[in-house]
Formats: sequence, C-alpha cells, structure tokens
Amino acid sequence: MNGAVLRLAELFARARRPVAFTGAGVSTESGIPDFRSPGGLWDRFDPREFTYQNFVGSVSGRRKYWELGRVTYPVIRAARPNAAHLALAELHRLGRLDCCITQNIDDLHQRAGLPGERVIELHGNATRTRCLECGAAYTRDEVHEWLQAGDEIPACRRCGGVVKPTTVLFGEAMPAREMQEAERRSRAADLFVVLGSSLVVYPAAYMPAHAKHAGATLAIVNLEATPLDAQADLVIRDKAGAVMAAVLDGVRA
Ligand code: APR
Repeated sequence: MNGAVLRLAELFARARRPVAFTGAGVSTESGIPDFRSPGGLWDRFDPREFTYQNFVGSVSGRRKYWELGRVTYPVIRAARPNAAHLALAELHRLGRLDCCITQNIDDLHQRAGLPGERVIELHGNATRTRCLECGAAYTRDEVHEWLQAGDEIPACRRCGGVVKPTTVLFGEAMPAREMQEAERRSRAADLFVVLGSSLVVYPAAYMPAHAKHAGATLAIVNLEATPLDAQADLVIRDKAGAVMAAVLDGVRA
C-alpha cells in the first residue's frame, strides 16, 4: 500500500464524520462508461440534445432520449457494485462513513449495501420513473419492457401523460431536499473524499468546496486532474476500486 493510500486509510480511521462524494468514475469498473473520459458518453452523444427542455418540450426530444435510454439502461441494470462501492458500504458498517453524496444514477451504492437514507442522490436515480402529469410511478424495468415491446415514447398507463425517469436532466431543477442535505453534511464533514468525478458540473461540484471551507480535510481520488486538486490535502491519481479496497484493509488492520 503506497504512502498516499495509507494516509487516506488513516484519515478514514480517525475521522468523526467522513463523507464520500462520488461521480461516474466510481462505476466505470462496473462496466458503466463515464461521461468525459475518452470514449465516454458525451464523446458518443451530444449532451445538448438531452436537456429537460427538449424532453418535456417535444416528442422528437423524448424519442431521442428514449433511444439513448434503450441503450444505456441495460448496461446499468447488468452492472454489479465494484470494490469501491463495496468498500464504502463496509466502511459505513464499521462506523467509518457518515454518508455518500453521489452524482450517479445507477443505484450501485444502494445495491452494494449502503442504506438508502445514507445515499444522497443529487442527479436522481435511473431505476425509477414517474408520470409528469398524474405522478404515477413505474419501475424503469417496466418501462424498459414497454420500449422492448415497441413503445417509442412510453406514456402513462393511467392518464396517457409523459413518463420520465427520476434522473435530473441538464436544465432541470436540482432536488431541493437532497441539495440541502448534501450541503449540510458537506459542511459538517471533517473528511471529504471525492471518488471518480471530474468536478466540472455545478451545483454538485460545490460540495467539496463547502466541506473544505468548513474545515474538512479534502481528498480526491481520480484518474485525471480536477479543478479542485490544488485545494485538496491529498490527491491520489489511481483507480477508485483498488484505492478503496486498500483503504478498507487499512481501516480494518
Ligand atoms: N477510478 C478513478 N477515477 C476514474 C475511474 C476509476 N476507475 N474511471 C474514470 N475515472 C475518472 C475520470 O478520469 C473522470 O475524471 O472519473 C471522472 C469522471 O468524470 P465525468 O465523466 O465527468 O463524470 P462526473 O464527474 O460524475 O460527471 C458529473 O455530469 O453529465 C453529467 O449528470 C452527469 O452526474 C454527471 C455529471
């Protein structure tokens, strides 16, 4: 175990309120491509086409969204939690993690065993959908079956309204309760660990800054440089899975 990872393990072992902040990079080892690495999602699709306005504003916008969803959702559904997700869940069981604030929509933190109330999803969750008119809830699996059966644009089975995954699209309002809770827990953290995020999307990327300004030790584990590296107390340029597995071993030692 190299010095930086050993230091991160010591920080987790001693912290009163450690908080993890995860991005798509924590799920790439589960087979889910991230957004901004070479070959990532935004290399293959134009994010400007998948805005909230396009989705609610036009049939063609919804058709394009579901064409993408038909491809991406099976990858999420087939994914399994990797060593990073499992280590965070175990650290929580050991009393060494207050919560995980995530930008991810893949449900893998919960499937790794983190209690739902300890996972704060800033960008929603791709496994659930809701009718924008009457509020009827459908699982994404149900809606995926409708798509596989030929629906191009899934409509509510109760009122015929627009059905939308409970993920936050560009231009959509952020979930107020999750944002408040994430900010509160970021400011209360004495250790804030970023795992697998480019830290370029706001307001999510304010959370590490809130933690740092409130006096937390800031660690960033990411394969590439991020705009907050200079403010971090510890930067580890390595894979989240291997790092967090080693951190868990160190905390248990
Ligand atoms: N271990 C560590 N870092 C990794 C790994 C890994 N195994 N795999 C990829 N990374 C790094 C990449 O180098 C990249 O810097 O994770 C980062 C992922 O960055 P993005 O693809 O930008 O993902 P994220 O930061 O989560 O994006 C934020 O943007 O498109 C929106 O809503 C979307 O939630 C997403 C938000």
